[in-house]
Amino acid sequence: MSVLAGVDIGGTKCAVCLGREAGDGVELIGKRMFPTPSSPEAAIGEFIRKLDELIAEHGTGLPRAIGISCGGPLDSKAGTILSPPNLPNWDRIDVVTPLRERYGVPVGLQNDANACALAEWKWGAGKGRANMIFLTFGTGMGAGLVLNGKLYSGTNDMAGEVGHVRMEKAGPVGYGKAGSFEGFCSGGGIARLARDMAEARLLAGDKPMFCHNAEALNGITTKAVAEAAAAGDELALEVFGIVGRKLGRGLAILVDILNPEIIVIGSIYSRQLGLLEEITMNELRQEALPLAVDVCRVVPAALSENIGDLAALSVALNTLS
Ligand code: BGC
Ligand code: NA
Repeated sequence: MSVLAGVDIGGTKCAVCLGREAGDGVELIGKRMFPTPSSPEAAIGEFIRKLDELIAEHGTGLPRAIGISCGGPLDSKAGTILSPPNLPNWDRIDVVTPLRERYGVPVGLQNDANACALAEWKWGAGKGRANMIFLTFGTGMGAGLVLNGKLYSGTNDMAGEVGHVRMEKAGPVGYGKAGSFEGFCSGGGIARLARDMAEARLLAGDKPMFCHNAEALNGITTKAVAEAAAAGDELALEVFGIVGRKLGRGLAILVDILNPEIIVIGSIYSRQLGLLEEITMNELRQEALPLAVDVCRVVPAALSENIGDLAALSVALNTLS
């Protein structure tokens, strides 16, 4: 059986999986998820243990290649992770060599947004497109760029670090920077924006649906704000109004610079399409050049459910091409 293996490294959770190409899509054969171990060395040991388990359980034999997906910064050529914000103690950690030595097959490492872009491009919403952009819009905001039918990762893997782009002089902090794209458009960013706005409302004597008192301020989640917005809470709708406009502005910058055919947006955008789509698209149309907007579709990710795993598998496949 000709299988691929994937390793998805996140700040709180990791997953390893086996999969195979099936028709023009991909099939997940098996998967193990676990909390991210406290040290990188322990994590690498766990990747190998869990991969061994999966290979034995499914009787697949060795995978043809292994793909690793992780938030940046990282060095894809050297195979090292360079202390990303969600994994600060993974400082210059070579994750590729231990797996290559253990299994003797090609092992590739990619930025998570790039990996998701590859997966959506091979198997999802961007299939067959020459120019597509993927935006993570989850815990963080990152972009993966497929240009002229190839992943574009820049001079040193920093292409698509759009979360760092400043949208406003002040605002929620993301990427260590107030008012950045990630500050507004990420899970943590939305919660922080909602908290700041709720605090002002509480002082004025209001009780937003997602936060009734000062003690609740720190427990605000993006999910609770989205639920309140869907139920018509005025402040929650205002929060999503701001987020949708910032997203539209971010898209406009990308559309004007890169003239893509399609932009695929994951996680929060796919889950909150009803709250975001119209506002985002209005802002995009207002801000970007009409000729560029006219040819660009903006769609939610197609692979949402197992996108992290499929992203890692697509990195494996990419190392073989
Ligand atoms: C990181 C990117 C990553 C994105 C999504 C950002 O904070 O800088 O490299 O792609 O989060 O996880
Ligand atoms: Na990227």
